[in-house]
This record gives sequence, C-alpha cells and structure tokens, in this order.
Amino acid sequence: MGGTGFWWTWRVLGSLLLVPGILGWGKEGHYTICKIAEGFLSEEALAAVKELLPASAKGDLAEVCSWPDEIRHSYHWRWSGPLHYVDTPDFKCNYKYCRDCHDSAGHKDRCVTAAIYNYSMQLSSGYHESISESGYNLTEALMFLSHFIGDVHQPLHVGFTGDEGGNTIIVRWYRRKTNLHHVWDNMIIESAVKTYYSKDLAIMIKAIERNITDGWFNVIPSWKICANNQTVCPNEHASESISLACKYAYRNATPGSTLTDDYFLSRLPVVEKRLAQSGVRLAATLNRIFSSQAKQIADA
Ligand code: ADE
Ligand code: ZN
Ligand code: ZN
Repeated sequence: MGGTGFWWTWRVLGSLLLVPGILGWGKEGHYTICKIAEGFLSEEALAAVKELLPASAKGDLAEVCSWPDEIRHSYHWRWSGPLHYVDTPDFKCNYKYCRDCHDSAGHKDRCVTAAIYNYSMQLSSGYHESISESGYNLTEALMFLSHFIGDVHQPLHVGFTGDEGGNTIIVRWYRRKTNLHHVWDNMIIESAVKTYYSKDLAIMIKAIERNITDGWFNVIPSWKICANNQTVCPNEHASESISLACKYAYRNATPGSTLTDDYFLSRLPVVEKRLAQSGVRLAATLNRIFSSQAKQIADA
C-alpha cells in the first residue's frame, strides 16, 4: 500500500505540474491587478462590488480574482476555458475580433474579448434592473469580468494559435525548464518579487501603485478612455497585447532557448506596466458600470 501511495502521489503531483499553463496571469498577477483596482474605485462602485462579492472574499475583490482559473478545469466549468484568451493566426502581430474571436472548434464569440463584453453587459443590466430581475449571477459576472480584464492584458493571452500563446514553446527560465507562456503568467513576477521586493508581493504592489501616482500620472487618463464612450474596450487592449507579444514576449525566446537577466530585465517593465494598466482599467470599467449617472440614463 505504501508503494502504491507513493506512486499515486507522484502521479498526481506530476500531472499537476504538467497541466498546460492555460491559467491567466498567475495567482500573484491577478491578485495584484485587483488590489490596484480597489484603490481606484469610486465610493458607489466599491459599495456595489462589496455587495456582490461572495463570502469567501471577506470583502476583498483581490481574494477572488483567480477564481475563474481555479474552476476552469472542472467538468461543470469546462466551457469557460476558451474565454481566457484570444489567439491570432501564426506570426500575425495584429488582432481582429471577427477573424480571431472563436474557440478551437471555430465557434464564434468564444474568446476573452467576447467574454469581457458579455460579463460587463450582465453587470450593467443587473445593476440597472435591480439585482434579482436580471436573471444573471452577478457575483460570477463580477469575478469573471475582473479576471478577464487582467487576462486580456497579458501579452501572450493574445498570442499565436500554433503555439497556444507560448504554451508549447519550451524554454529555460534561468535553470528551470518551463514554457514561454508560464514565464509571462508567473516567472517574471515571481523573480521580481524575490529579487527586488524582499519576497513580499505587497511591496511590489505598493511600488506599482507609487509608479501610477508619480511616473505614469500624466498618461492615466488616456489608459481609461474607451472609444465612443463605451463601457469596455477589450479590442483595444487585445491589440496592444499582441503587439507587445511580438515585440517582447516572442522575441529572442525560441524553443529551447535559455532566458536569463537580459530577458528578465528588459521585460519586467512591460509586465509592471500591463499590471498597472489592467488595474486602472478594471477600476474605470467598474466605476462606469456602477455609477448613479449611468443608472439615471437607463431609468429615463
Ligand atoms: N490556449 C491556447 N491559446 C492560449 C493562450 N493564448 N493563452 C492561454 N491558453 C491558451
Ligand atoms: Zn495564462
Ligand atoms: Zn485566466
């Protein structure tokens, strides 16, 4: 029995390690984005968010921002897998909704940008019609929207179809064997926390927040704008992501390559800016959805 137990444990651990990195940014990335967003919420939006959060969040949006990754491999939620990303045809460094937003079977509107439109619509109509009448689960809608706004900012969540956004590109991150997608979901952030932020994610979050209020202050208004006064603009964010994927993620990261200081130091600023942008944009989106002005317009 002992021997069987050992092999069984080994197999379970082994298969967990081999689960393809379809997860969004890693847990730390999503936590960071939602923590940053919390600091930019209006009073109204904060109240609405707190009312919708599940008890397990203990009043903190950041606690549940990885929830869509935790459930997506279970049978009940398998349908949500393709909603975490949108890939472009191989080596195309632009994104087009009509061409790219489909799942691997070709079903249209099954991708991260469609999911952002869908869940923001659910939250808006739920808020305006009163929570019980809309028929949507607004708690789930809030957790999905917060997560997917993060995902669409991860450059390799808008990567090439042929390599599944870098998932099939095996590389070394310093001495560790991993894949390029995982480097961008987790490793760059983990290495930064270890090297520059005393192994404490909270310190990294504070540093990014300081950068938002100091260094990036002048460009923040431009981050928040959505063309034509729309509530969400995921197509713009997806276009930025594939462009960054081509310029930074895929560049000098061919299969079998070893990524070290050169790659880490030049890509970390890109990751930090994308985390900041998604936090600020998530807050701006929730502020737009949960504004009494929007409610007055809907009620008129
Ligand atoms: N599976 C296929 N493409 C993917 C991507 N870009 N991100 C995450 N998982 C994927
Ligand atoms: Zn991912
Ligand atoms: Zn995800």
